[in-house]
Amino acid sequence: MPRQPGKPQPRMAGGTITVVRRLDGIDVSRLVNLSLNENAWGTVPGAVGAAADAATHAALYADTRAWTLREAIGTFYGVDPACVVPGNGSEEILDIVGRVYARPGDEILAPALSFAQFRIVAWRLGVDYVESPTAGELDADIEALIAAVTPRTRVVYLANPGNPTGRGIDSATLLRLADALPGNVVLVLDCAYAEFGDPGAAATALRLAQERTNVLTTRTFSKAWGMAGLRLGWGVAMPEMADALNAMRGIGNVSGPTQAAGIAGLRHPDTPAWLARTGAAVIRGRDLLTGSLRQAGYAVPDSQTNFVMARVPGGAGVTAAGLVRRVAEAGALIRACDDYGLDDWLRISIGQDGPMRIVAHTLAAVIDPSRQT
Ligand SMILES: Cc1ncc(COP(=O)(O)O)c(C=O)c1O
Repeated sequence: MPRQPGKPQPRMAGGTITVVRRLDGIDVSRLVNLSLNENAWGTVPGAVGAAADAATHAALYADTRAWTLREAIGTFYGVDPACVVPGNGSEEILDIVGRVYARPGDEILAPALSFAQFRIVAWRLGVDYVESPTAGELDADIEALIAAVTPRTRVVYLANPGNPTGRGIDSATLLRLADALPGNVVLVLDCAYAEFGDPGAAATALRLAQERTNVLTTRTFSKAWGMAGLRLGWGVAMPEMADALNAMRGIGNVSGPTQAAGIAGLRHPDTPAWLARTGAAVIRGRDLLTGSLRQAGYAVPDSQTNFVMARVPGGAGVTAAGLVRRVAEAGALIRACDDYGLDDWLRISIGQDGPMRIVAHTLAAVIDPSRQT
């Protein structure tokens, strides 16, 4: 398109990113939302009240260093607060690290079927996004990831466990990756679902981030902690990287109510028990859904997250989009994965028992109508 003098010209075409999903004729807002991997058990103790109290000071700026929050994170997780980078969701930290280390002409690398945000970061920066092949249908292939590094690679993203795959990499493989990457390539270990997966792998990511100058790990309050709407995430890196990331973030990136909610949740004496209880409920629901969908004929890989992937059986005579609609008609919103190129797959967040039964029953009944009551 010829440039039109006098008008701002976007560097990239809009419309590439679709977040809102619609189902014609169905009021999606009335459905139980099992498409965003939110916490169906609510929010950690103390957080909501603290956010409401802090909102009474809305006329004042919050602590721009978010220092008390960083100390509370440091105390809870055993990390130096100077190494903590607070974010408006962990999404923001994933973006900041790209902005600090990558420029047009560079490459950002991630395994195929990675969290869509990694590609979006590259797109926003005008940086080439390179994907390494998976091992089998869904799993990240770490040797292929290492082999895909070039002199132009600046940042490697790995979500562990992954979204949309739900699959995890163990500690030994994480170490192999960290050891194999050149020191000038930043390794970002996105552990948004750490609480539902292998605790050893999450601990290894946290340790690597405190020991290696080129490793960042990110965590979120959106999933296990039930604070998705308040937007709070955090990263850990050694001081030089943490300082660079903190300098890049907006000084008011985490609002006062959100800082207060995080501090209250981290300090509340009931939080560890709440996290254990709700985490166990997620895992129980995940096991039940996995079992009943497998019995109905769906392929359901073991998940390390608060969602499962289910492959529609061949010859079922119904598409993933058709199944999303059938489940919506029954009262719940699940997700097709066509935007990831996984046309036959569904992604279903783990919720309370009632909605889970609706999903399991509806998906089974479509495959085997004799199951319908
Ligand atoms: C793998 C992964 N990383 C990061 C995020 C971002 O979460 P938030 O910005 O809410 O912390 C998500 C959200 O779904 C995710 O799935």
